[in-house]
Amino acid sequence: MQEPTHGGPRRLVHHVRAGDIEHGGLASAQIKRQLSGLGVAPQDARRAGIIAFEGEMNLVVYSTNGGTITVTVSEKLVDIEVADEGPGIEDIDLALTPGFSTAPSWARELGFGAGMGLCNIQANADWFEIHSHIGSGTRILCRIERRRHDASGHRPTTRT
Ligand SMILES: Nc1ncnc2c1ncn2[C@@H]1O[C@H](COP(=O)(O)OP(=O)(O)OP(=O)(O)O)[C@@H](O)[C@H]1O
Ligand SMILES: [Mg+2]
Repeated sequence: MQEPTHGGPRRLVHHVRAGDIEHGGLASAQIKRQLSGLGVAPQDARRAGIIAFEGEMNLVVYSTNGGTITVTVSEKLVDIEVADEGPGIEDIDLALTPGFSTAPSWARELGFGAGMGLCNIQANADWFEIHSHIGSGTRILCRIERRRHDASGHRPTTRT
């Protein structure tokens, strides 16, 4: 199917392999570049890049069979979905607690496992949802409300 060159939402899909630490971070770096290329403001592309990176590393470190990062860009929004098919998270509240981590030693030796990834995702999203069930997997939905793309890259300020 041919991608439209303009108009309408654009959908970018990246597959991430489980355990592939060597390529961990490539998909999110590419996403950030693609968003900039689509005219997304630098600060929004940066936030999306952080969300995608943390999601990507969690797919690398925890997923059984890898997963996907799907980014949908429309005029006002950047939506990011990170999904895998297992193992799923047993206690979501605990997983969202800053500092909680079950990272294996090989990941900790590489500097992962601070237990900050999901917090970082939440902090960079305007809207965040996580669905996870043991056996069926994890799905994270994030939304960024795009700011106006002005030269300063700052959020438009309202003064009254
Ligand atoms: N896709 C996933 N599948 C299964 N468990 C996950 C998944 N993502 C996160 N978790 C669980 O949630 C915990 C917290 O994740 P989070 O990304 O916040 O921190 P971390 O990956 O442990 O460390 P950091 O991201 O700071 O390197 C993980 O340690 C893991 O137990
Ligand atoms: Mg993480």
